[in-house]
Order: sequence, then C-alpha cells, then structure tokens
Amino acid sequence: MNPFPKTAILSGANCLTDLRRFISESSYSSIVVLVDENTQEFCYPLLKLPRYHHLLKVNSGEENKNLANCLEVWKNLSELECDRKTLLINLGGGVLCDMGGFIASTYLRGIDFLNIPTTLLAMCDAGIGGKTGVNFNGLKNQIGVFNDPISIFINVDFLETLPEKQFLSGYAEIIKHALIADKVMFKSISKQDDIKKGIIKQVLHSHKIKLKIVASDAFEKGVRKSLNFGHSIGHALESLFLVNDPQNAIFHGEAVAAGMITEAIISFNRQLLSAGELEMIINVISNWFPKLKISPVDISDIIDYISNDKKNEYNRKLFTLLDGIGHYSINNDVTDDEISQSLEHYLSL
Ligand SMILES: NC(=O)c1ccc[n+]([C@@H]2O[C@H](COP(=O)([O-])OP(=O)(O)OC[C@H]3O[C@@H](n4cnc5c(N)ncnc54)[C@H](O)[C@@H]3O)[C@@H](O)[C@H]2O)c1
Repeated sequence: MNPFPKTAILSGANCLTDLRRFISESSYSSIVVLVDENTQEFCYPLLKLPRYHHLLKVNSGEENKNLANCLEVWKNLSELECDRKTLLINLGGGVLCDMGGFIASTYLRGIDFLNIPTTLLAMCDAGIGGKTGVNFNGLKNQIGVFNDPISIFINVDFLETLPEKQFLSGYAEIIKHALIADKVMFKSISKQDDIKKGIIKQVLHSHKIKLKIVASDAFEKGVRKSLNFGHSIGHALESLFLVNDPQNAIFHGEAVAAGMITEAIISFNRQLLSAGELEMIINVISNWFPKLKISPVDISDIIDYISNDKKNEYNRKLFTLLDGIGHYSINNDVTDDEISQSLEHYLSL
C-alpha cells in the first residue's frame, strides 16, 4: 500500500528523512529533480537522495515561468527516455512548483510529481492545492491545469537561505490566510515586530488553512475563491510591472499586499468592513510592504489586465472581498469605477 496517498503533506524535522524513505521504497523507473540555479546551490545539497536521478535546471524568475522552458524540459525528459513511471520532483519556489507541476501533468498525459517548496510563499500557498501552470502572452498563469502532486514535503530549514525580500513576499499570503479565515491569527500578526519570530508555527497554521479550503473545493467553484482575496488587483499589478519593466518586476507578495489593501478599500466602500478594520488592515500591511510606485495613468491599464482575469465570468469582474476580518464574501461583481476609486485611495495613502 502506498503510505503517501495523493496528496500527503509531510513537514517538520524528519521531513527529508521521510522523503528519502519514500524514494527508497518507490518503484519509479526514473527520478528527475527540477531545480533553478538558487535551489540547486542552496537546497539540492540537503536532499541527499538515496537513488540515481537526473537533475534538470531552469533559470529562476517569474519571467522564466513560460512555455519556452516547458518545451525545454519536455524535450529533456523525452531525450532521457523518461516513461510514464517517472517521478518529477519540483525543488523550488512557486515558479518552479507551478511550472514543474504543469510539465509533469502534461508529459505523456501525466506523470507523478511531488513538490518540495523552498520559499515561504510556496510552503504556505503555491506548493499546495494543485494549481499548475505558466504565464502566457503577458498574462499570469494563463495556461495550466489542476493536478495534485503526490506529496508535498515542507522543510522550513530551506528558509534560512531565502533572501529577505522573498521571505517578505511569502508573508503576504500568511496575512491573506489570516484575513480571510482567522481573526485571532491576524491580531497576533498585527502585534508582530519580528517577521521571523514564530514563523514555523505560522507556516504550519497557514498551510492548514489553505489545505482545508482546497480540500472542500478543489476546482474553485465556491469557497476556494476566498483564496483570491487580494489577487484580482494583485495579479493585474504583477502583470503591469512584468510587462512595463521586466527587469524590475515586483514580487508576487508585494503585488498581493497592494491588492489586499485596494480590495479591502472596496470592501469598506461597500460597508463590509468598518473604518477601524480598514485602518488596521492598511497599517499591518503597510508596516511590512512599502507602497508600490504606480501612477494615476496606470489605472486604466490595471483595469484592462483585470478584464482578462481568469476569475471573471460572463465579462463580470468577480472579486473576493472581506466581510469583516476573518470572513470573506465571494463572487462580488465589482465595477471599473470601484476599482479606480480604490486605486486612487491607495495612491493617496
Ligand atoms: N499554484 C498556486 O496556488 C500559487 C499560489 C500563489 C502563488 N503562485 C505562484 O508562485 C510564484 C511565486 O513564487 P515564489 O514567491 O516562491 O517565487 P520564486 O519561485 O520565483 O522563488 C523566488 C526566488 O527565490 C529563490 N529561492 C527559492 N528557494 C530558495 C532558498 N531556499 N534559498 C535561496 N533562494 C531560494 C528562487 O530561485 C527565486 O530566485 C508566482 O508565479 C505565483 O503565480 C502559485
């Protein structure tokens, strides 16, 4: 019997030992580890896999989460004669987990893959939930499939080499999980003066929140949409910076932080949040995330990006808003004027 049903999450001190046991006991015909240059240097040496495996490398960065890299990896898998019994191990952040998951889900109509998230964001969010894919035509995650990894191994020791800004980027998703699902956690985040204090507990709690949500709605028909809070405007901001200035693209978490503030402003304007709650949300997020450099002329581009959002239905821009801290409201049909007002409010902060 497979002791690691789809999807098991293994975390904690013995996580890499569990991984090695899993590899030793498995009967895969070949094992391929997908890394980028940073995870190759900092994380791969800790794996010490007990079996022969191939190592494939892609360049790091959001700009490399694309079909060109998928083609390269599919070609390599094919040249290595990897068959359907191959296991792909994604060792990296959200970019690598998303792209590697998509590569595995489509190669030979699908091979097993597992995620070993190495960033805070991937541990709490991107590595869990089965959304795989790549950016296309200037749009985030435009091509992809839902498919779960067979296992996720969460080893917080990897965070030791993660650059500060990347750490912060992942923290945005921890704040999001608290805002949509856990008022007590948000209160404790609001008192936090050192972002790394108690991070192990927060990672475990945060990924449990996400896991509970995706377990009850894998294909985002209902409650899973709560996870989109901050992401309608956030993704548009990410696309704006990616297209306008690819060398200085902002981090996903930075975009989501601004997205959460602007979407909280819309929630407040709809009287779903009180003035005190909005103020608290703005203060907590602004404490960690500096304001993004956008100008009033960008607003129409941002709205255009939102018009192409996968979350839209029948040309309606459907947002997840907050209905008090720790509660959410999904499928809110938000107008361009409301988006524009929220961005103007953000610019005035
Ligand atoms: N699938 C989902 O549900 C989901 C959810 C949220 C975000 N995402 C996606 O996640 C992506 C962002 O992920 P991310 O923030 O992890 O960024 P990332 O994957 O680009 O990694 C950030 C950087 O850190 C480096 N790195 C990774 N681990 C390291 C370590 N332990 N030590 C040193 N350096 C390390 C990487 O090489 C990279 O340069 C976006 O593409 C976003 O769309 C997906």
